[in-house]
This record gives sequence, structure tokens and C-alpha cells, in this order.
Amino acid sequence: MSAKITAIILAAGQGTRMRSALPKVLQPLAKRPLLQYVIDAANALPINKIMVVCGYKAELVKQAFAGQALTWVEQPQQLGTADAVQCAMLQLTAAEQVLVLYGDVPLIKATTLQQFISNTPTTALGVLTAKLAEPRGFGRIIRDPSGQIQGIVEDKDATLAQQAITEINAGIYLIPQKNLINWLQQINTNNNQQELYLTDIVALAIKDGVAVHTETVTTAEEVMGVNSKSQLAALERYYQRQQVEQLLQQGVTILDPNRVDIRGKVTVAADVTLDVNVILEGEVTIEAGVNIGPNVVIKDSYLGANTTILANSVIDTARIGNSCQIGPFARIRPVTVLKDQVKIGNFVEIKNTEINEASKANHLSYLGDATIGSQVNIGAGVITCNYDGANKHKTIIGAQVSVGADSQLIAPINIGQGATIAAGTTVMKDVPEQVLVLNTKQQQHLLNWHRPIKKED
Ligand code: UD1
Ligand code: CA
Repeated sequence: MSAKITAIILAAGQGTRMRSALPKVLQPLAKRPLLQYVIDAANALPINKIMVVCGYKAELVKQAFAGQALTWVEQPQQLGTADAVQCAMLQLTAAEQVLVLYGDVPLIKATTLQQFISNTPTTALGVLTAKLAEPRGFGRIIRDPSGQIQGIVEDKDATLAQQAITEINAGIYLIPQKNLINWLQQINTNNNQQELYLTDIVALAIKDGVAVHTETVTTAEEVMGVNSKSQLAALERYYQRQQVEQLLQQGVTILDPNRVDIRGKVTVAADVTLDVNVILEGEVTIEAGVNIGPNVVIKDSYLGANTTILANSVIDTARIGNSCQIGPFARIRPVTVLKDQVKIGNFVEIKNTEINEASKANHLSYLGDATIGSQVNIGAGVITCNYDGANKHKTIIGAQVSVGADSQLIAPINIGQGATIAAGTTVMKDVPEQVLVLNTKQQQHLLNWHRPIKKED
């Protein structure tokens, strides 16, 4: 195998069939742009550089992949796939072979490409194909009676007989560089779309007596091109199903494999249970014995062993310890650290807060910019008033503190260990250890009080 391979990824098209302002290659599959998948596959190969041809909203596309080792080439007008490659040729350094990939064919596996590269002689043209039950929209592979490839005919140019062919062009080629330069000069717009079709290189290779090696992928979804929202949705479902299958094989219990979505890099231990409509996003690690209820979103977080997340909770950028119980209807925001055995109940919002072992906030609270000790009880409706209208301030609560229901803690504030705060207290200054805090309020009774009666109109 030659290591002198340059990859060219075609990503200049608008993707008219998407009917979207977002360029096609930026459309998300499991929340990542389509093009990122192709770049990742190329990066896993022994190639010397990756060139990406952009055109439609080029700045936006480049920006989305800033910082990655890519050579960008602009195609001023989208005149067709052959023109896109031609634009890259101007900046191509000496390589033996050019691997062309399409930015809208995201699920191609690096292992498939690796095998394709190994099997294609360096002097031959390699073409990757697939057999599809529903080949509509793809270029068809034309073979002679002996099975030898003759050319590729685009769907829009195909005769009825050619449309019946189920072997399609994946849009992935390995091309000897010196032939490519020559063939590109000979491609014209003599077709229904009046475009410069890269696919014409197959017929040109035959004409020049260059061997054409075709390889057919076994999993057709790997080469599914995405042209429309409908195809994007179909591929999303396929991709999700594949990821869920992997988790099932690792021993994760998934109540409905069609109703769990993974949009990132997740590590899930055995004996974890995921109920329906769980979404795992970004980098998520879930330890053994964790139980996640229905309609839960977990993003960029760590969940320690045997923790339970009850229905309808949203957890973002949090590190949650072992044997915690969160929810139902809890909202954990960045950056939250919960130590072991913490209990967070319904309608509790937590932000930029650390809560230590075995502390509880069971109902209707807002805890922001706080450090809370161990074995603390936060009563219903407690609010850390962290914002003075201009700046955020910290609340520090010592171990074993009990904060009575409906109290407001005006930050910055420090509440000493073991203090007890009576229900309905507005705590305005620091509290020493082990005291009872209450505001003086008096309860009055106005006798024989009758509420106003609604007047008739
Ligand atoms: C193309 C192939 C078809 C194949 C299918 C596989 C051609 C002529 N046809 O058809 O045989 O079955 O892909 O998915 O190649 N692009 C540019 N510049 C252009 C035109 C396109 O960079 O001027 C890029 C697009 O952004 C896209 C890729 O090339 O990433 C393919 O273009 P698209 O228009 O989607 O081609 P298809 O009609 O899908
Ligand atoms: Ca396409």
C-alpha cells in the first residue's frame, strides 16, 4: 500500500435538495456536521494530507472545522464534481494516488477505506460501489456482459433500463494522480445537468486501458449519500440504531432501542438501564447500576455507580457521585458537582454548585454559585440569591446545616456548620456555627375577617 495518498473531500455544494440555509456538509448527524465524519474517516488512514473543497458559504464551512489539520481549497462556482477536484489539483503536491471522498457520504468506515486502498493496485482506478434495493438518485454502475465495469451513468441521465440497475456509485475513488490530471481535461458538460461529472473518469480509464478495480461494500448504509432532509433523517435513525446496538451488546438495558439517542461519545457500564426518550450528548460516562428514567437529557456529564435519575431531568456538565437520586424534573446546570448519596428532588435547579455527601434538596429550590457541606437539608423553596443585578456572589453552607422551607440566602453569605435556619427566613448576614436563625415577624389575627364578595355585573 502506498502512503503517498492525498485525500480530497468534496464539500462545495449548497445541497439545494436540503432546502436549508445551512450548507449540506454542515447539516448535523447525531449533532455533528456530516463533513466531520468524513474528515475523521480520512484521518484514520495512512495519507499525507486532507484537502477539502468548499464553495457555498465557504467561510462558514471553514470556521466549523477551524483548528483541524486540513488544506482548504475554494471552488468559485459549483460546476460539478470534476470541477471541484480540478480546483484541488492546482494545490496538489506530488502524490501517487488521490482518494476522493464526498462530504455528504458520512458513514463510510475507515476500515472499509483501508481495505479499498489495500486492494486497489496503485496503477488502477478504484471505484467503491454498493448494491441498493432502492438505488434512485445515485449514479449507476454500468457493466458489460462479462461483468467488467464500463462507466457510471447518473440517475438523471439514465435510460429506464439503466435505472433498473441496483449497483450504485458510492462517490469514493482512488485515482492515480497522473491519470487524473489528464482525465480532468477531457471531461465535458455533455449531460442532462450540464455539469462536469467526475464519474466520467471510469469511461476515460477504460478508453486509456487503465485497469478499473471495483469493490462493493457489504453494508450499504456506509455509502448512503445525504441529499435531502428525508435521507438525513433516515441515516440518523440508522446511526442511532447502530450505536444503541453497541450499548446493548455491552450489557446496557435499553427499554426501547428506537427511543434512545446518542449524540456524542458515551461510555456506559454494564447493568445500566435507560428508559425511553433518553438523550446522551457530548462526553458522557455512566457507571454500573445507574438507572435513568424516561425523558432525561444528559450532556457532558459523569454519573457515578448506582445513581438514579428520575423522569424528565436535564443534566448538563455535572459530576454526580455514587448512589445519588436526581429528579423527577430536576435541572442540573454547568458546573455542578454532587458527591455520593446526594438527593435532588423535583423542580430543583442547580448551577455552579458543589454539594457534599448525603445532602438533600428535595423540592423547588434554586442553588447557584454555592458550596454546600455534607448532610445538609435544603427545605422546599429555598433560594440562593446569588445575583445583585450586576455581579454573582457565593453562598457557603457548612455541614449539617438545615435550611427551612422558603428561605432566601442573600449572597455573599457564609452559614456555619450545624446552623438551623427557620422556615421563611431571609438570611442577610453570615451565620455562626450551631445557631438558630430567624427573622422577627409576628403573626397577627384580625378577628371576624370576611373576604370581599364578588359583585354581580
Ligand atoms: C454523486 C455522484 C453519483 C453518486 C453519488 C453518491 C457525480 C456526478 N455523481 O451524485 O454518481 O452515486 O454522488 O452519493 O459525482 N460537490 C462539490 N462541487 C460541485 C458539485 C458537488 O464540491 O460542483 C460536492 C457536494 O458538496 C457533495 C458531493 O460533491 O458533497 C457530491 O455532490 P452531489 O451534488 O451531492 O452529487 P450526487 O447527485 O449525490
Ligand atoms: Ca450527494
